[in-house]
Amino acid sequence: MTDTLKIAPSILSADFSRLGAEVEAIDKAGCDYVHIDVMDGHFVPNLTFGPPIIECIRPCTDKVFDVHLMINPAQPHLESYAKAGADIITVHAEADVHLDRSLQMIRGFGKKAGVSLNPSTPESVIEYVLDKLDLILVMSVNPGFGGQSFIESQLDKIRRIRSMIGDRPIDLEVDGGVNVETIKSVTDAGANVVVAGSAVFKGDDYSATIGALRDAAGA
Ligand code: DX5
Ligand code: ZN
Repeated sequence: MTDTLKIAPSILSADFSRLGAEVEAIDKAGCDYVHIDVMDGHFVPNLTFGPPIIECIRPCTDKVFDVHLMINPAQPHLESYAKAGADIITVHAEADVHLDRSLQMIRGFGKKAGVSLNPSTPESVIEYVLDKLDLILVMSVNPGFGGQSFIESQLDKIRRIRSMIGDRPIDLEVDGGVNVETIKSVTDAGANVVVAGSAVFKGDDYSATIGALRDAAGA
């Protein structure tokens, strides 16, 4: 999968006091997507960005805004995130009762629709919505915080979902604990988009880190 590998730095680990400059910096450093972790202090024990902040940073880059909603409920807020400038809107399968409806709503707003699965959620929950999906996001940590350790059991889930996807044009993204040590196992299992938060933002040279991640995936 490495020939089409997309790197999505998570701005959860950026310096929030200069968020616009951080988005410009990862753009220049060669990221593919800008991963935006939206947390509500309810679905996950942390609170981050709302639509006004996303709208503020939208002019800083033309790169894809990959908006990961860790909020419950998500449905009442989907339109706001669409209007704020999201390109991909990902909801958690565990967040709302009617996942099929959420996905239809996201596409109805003209955006790409994603679903995310917590580490304990089996891939069977997406079996009947595959034709409504543009992206599947496998959480390889329990969502809420950056800098956690990769949960190895998710490699099997990534392999199974890659097989479920078959020929469909669906991105398979992995989020949590991805760094130069773990990225190859993730891409070998079938992921073609990787989120990297602390791995990218902990150093000063974002370009070198993104390059090192691509090299490690292809090694
Ligand atoms: C966790 C978030 C992740 C997080 C990843 O809830 O969804 O996107 O920022 O951070 P790292 O790459 O540091 O594990
Ligand atoms: Zn995320």
